[in-house]
Amino acid sequence: MEEKRKIVYSGIQPSGVATLGNYIGAIRNYVALQEEYEAFYSVVDMHAITVRKTPADLRKNTRSMAALVLACGVDPEKCTLYVQSHVPAHAELCWILNCNTYMGELSRMIQFKEKSKTQKNVNAGLFDYPVLMIADILLYQTDLVPIGEDQKQHLEITRDVATRFNNAYSPTFKTPEMLIPKVGARIMSLTDPTSKMSKSNPDPNSYISLLDRPEDIVRKIKRAKTDSDAEIRFDTEAKPGVSNLLSIYAVMTDKSIEEAEADLSGLGGYGAFKQAVGDAVVARLEPVQSRYNEIMTDKAYLDEVLAKGAMNASRVAEKTLRKVKKKIGFIPPTRLK
Ligand code: AQP
Repeated sequence: MEEKRKIVYSGIQPSGVATLGNYIGAIRNYVALQEEYEAFYSVVDMHAITVRKTPADLRKNTRSMAALVLACGVDPEKCTLYVQSHVPAHAELCWILNCNTYMGELSRMIQFKEKSKTQKNVNAGLFDYPVLMIADILLYQTDLVPIGEDQKQHLEITRDVATRFNNAYSPTFKTPEMLIPKVGARIMSLTDPTSKMSKSNPDPNSYISLLDRPEDIVRKIKRAKTDSDAEIRFDTEAKPGVSNLLSIYAVMTDKSIEEAEADLSGLGGYGAFKQAVGDAVVARLEPVQSRYNEIMTDKAYLDEVLAKGAMNASRVAEKTLRKVKKKIGFIPPTRLK
């Protein structure tokens, strides 16, 4: 009998075009994990509306994010790719888990604290974001969640809530593990290497989007903030800017940090160093961008991938949801003849 594969879940917000940070911290792992695991990857549009979006932008970014994930090598024949709002079980489980999560726990979430400082629209959804994420993950009986460092706290609360629910109602959910990459778990902003690279940063020079033109990629990296001592070595405390570029180069060329240092430390100055990093990024993104352009011209293909994905995801998610509803005492609807 074929052994049941372990399950991977991950979501990405269509809150802009994916950045190099999203690629390095998450998407490249999606590609590797689909070979071994049963993988569910979701474009999480319900998470994205916690920050106000123009409807046209959200529509565009949702399709574009799905296409980009495919262009990076996610293969719909090997995994399930879908849009979160196409699977209503996410919202339903979120409500039930809201009633099993404490306000105090949510108040401690760093992402909420940071986002509520920078935006005027501090809505209940922004506060509740982690519970929706908990529902996303637990619906699929997930074993492993590939994430960047910034999502670590959300994974910890997912584990806590799963355990609490299991203890209160009997074992229902798997308690997932997180997979954080050794190199590139937190790619930093190019303009401020002490803060995370983010796709919704208002300054486009702070991030590299996966769809940036080659000349813009090189220009942004050449302008990236470093330091004044012209020494190319990895030291995140003393040299955050240089270390960030070394991490980017290492991942783009499939090398270790030590190998990246060995390649680049002899270049004799930051100009040549930054050019080498820029060239490595351009080379890695070129096939992604051309595949993306192909996918975006084939609307029927993308629609079909997402429709099949939603169908498959719903089947699995509904099974968990039915189990949860039964455990908490909801009565099933009577089917009328
Ligand atoms: N800078 C980063 N370095 C490494 N990993 C990162 N991730 C995000 N930024 C970095 C990882 O990418 C996955 C998808 O993230 P998301 O779209 O769900 O939301 P996010 O973490 O809030 O990413 P952004 O780009 O910063 O989005 P906005 O600007 O909308 O908030 C996650 O696994 C994340 O860890």
